[in-house]
Amino acid sequence: MRELARQGGGPDRIEKQHAKGKLTARERLDLLLDEGTFVEQDMFVTHRTTGFGMEDQLILGDGVVTGYGRVAGRLVFVFSQDFTVFGGSLSEAHSEKICKLMDMAMKVGAPVIGLNDSGGARIQEGVVSLGAYAEIFLRNTLASGVVPQISAILGPCAGGAVYSPAITDFVVMTRNTSHMFVTGPNVVKTVTHEDVTFEELGGADTHATLSGVAHFAADSEVDALESIRTLMTFLPSNNREDPPRIPCDDPHDREESDLDTLVPENPNKPYDMGEVIRKVVDFGDFLEVHKDYARNIIVGFARFDGRPVGIIANQPAQLAGVLDIDSSVKGARFVRFCDAFNIPLITFEDVPGFLPGLEQEHGGIIKQGAKLLYAYCEATVPKITIITRKAYGGAYDVMSSKHIRGDVNLAWPTAEIAVMGPKGAVEIIFKKEIAEADDPESAIEARVEEYRQTFANPYIAAKRGYLDDIIEPRTTRRRVIESLEMLETKVDRNPAKKHGNIPL
Ligand code: HXC
Repeated sequence: MRELARQGGGPDRIEKQHAKGKLTARERLDLLLDEGTFVEQDMFVTHRTTGFGMEDQLILGDGVVTGYGRVAGRLVFVFSQDFTVFGGSLSEAHSEKICKLMDMAMKVGAPVIGLNDSGGARIQEGVVSLGAYAEIFLRNTLASGVVPQISAILGPCAGGAVYSPAITDFVVMTRNTSHMFVTGPNVVKTVTHEDVTFEELGGADTHATLSGVAHFAADSEVDALESIRTLMTFLPSNNREDPPRIPCDDPHDREESDLDTLVPENPNKPYDMGEVIRKVVDFGDFLEVHKDYARNIIVGFARFDGRPVGIIANQPAQLAGVLDIDSSVKGARFVRFCDAFNIPLITFEDVPGFLPGLEQEHGGIIKQGAKLLYAYCEATVPKITIITRKAYGGAYDVMSSKHIRGDVNLAWPTAEIAVMGPKGAVEIIFKKEIAEADDPESAIEARVEEYRQTFANPYIAAKRGYLDDIIEPRTTRRRVIESLEMLETKVDRNPAKKHGNIPL
């Protein structure tokens, strides 16, 4: 019977799966888990459907392989949908298998990794299958913030089925072989008369660049599964643990003299914040999340002296590092993930403010920007901020400022902290003077220089204690590591409540 179960839908369907450039459910588990660690459960489960000839089609396992195993030695629970069995569609029995392992993962405190490849609700089961999906959605929600949940999309994932991965913490998709959409190209054509391909509507690149649904896009299943293994190394197994620290021989006091001259003299000139990050973290290793989505903010995982951290950084090389709707939501979700799982937040700040415009205002930049502010405010993990250049307006407050419980707030000498940029400020406060001047341009220029001398530096904030120190850029790595060490035993709490009401 075991041998039969391992064959899934049989050799023909396995061949079809391979011909599409896809691996089987079991081949995927072999790649994801440490060799020889997989312990399978519920291999003999079959569906209980009658009608449509289903009673004669009983395939052991019912289209999903479930169990537990190890990733780099650490326990994870896994399910891997088998497209060769009824197209990996979700029956009551199939769902019960997934729910059983999720319940166990919650009791044990271990992550859940789902490998999705499914035609959706098992059509022959009707509403029973819909209920079965809802059982999973409920568990995804209850597990959120308790154990990390990671979804790989390695085939179709359509209709309501998309909402399980959407609730999980990270979504990885493969290019050309995976799709996610609420309604497919045919329905779209009928309803809106738009002609789109599967890939355009819901392929990996679409979701990794335009919608933000996918956190990672991979060229192959091997890459996708490898990226999950890498991601796992930064995460604790549950919300009661700290993320796993590893030994590190990258010197904690390594200085990077290039950083002293990285910020250009001209405040309107861009530079790459990615370079700052790579220069200060252990061995330059940075796992960027949402790399191609809302690139004006950078988020991802790295280590300082072996301790995992979450990094959020404005990117002056993209839209001048401005905060807009997408970057605010991207940042907020990442901050909340890190806070839920005890991962310290390191913020690199160079932000000219929020993006103006009709599109942004009508798209709700007010409530979307508020998400990032809310996320930072409620976060109780260690929070370290380094202002490299601009910290203007509301964005100064938002980006983990002292006032919203930033623990260690540092600035480079190049920092400019003010209500707004010099030119805008001068045009408002010296409006009359400029209007009456013989040469308005030089009047503005003189006042801009005065404003710059007064505000475009970190010293006023430092005098007030809003910054703990102004540091030489080259020493940033050491200062972050010292701060993390100091904050190792930090405890902070939010008031007791059922849950807050983040402005969704
Ligand atoms: C039962 C299904 C199935 C399903 C596929 N199969 N989807 N069986 N329920 N939902 C079976 C097929 O009958 C076939 O069986 C095998 O899986 C492979 O399917 P093919 O069509 O041959 O494969 P392919 O050409 O690759 O197309 C894959 C597909 C297509 C795009 C996924 O099968 C498809 O459109 N399926 C229906 C998708 C769908 O509409 N699902 C319901 C969505 S609504 P044999 O025996 O021939 O190998 C939904 C709501 C969830 O899911 C609600 C949650 C709240």
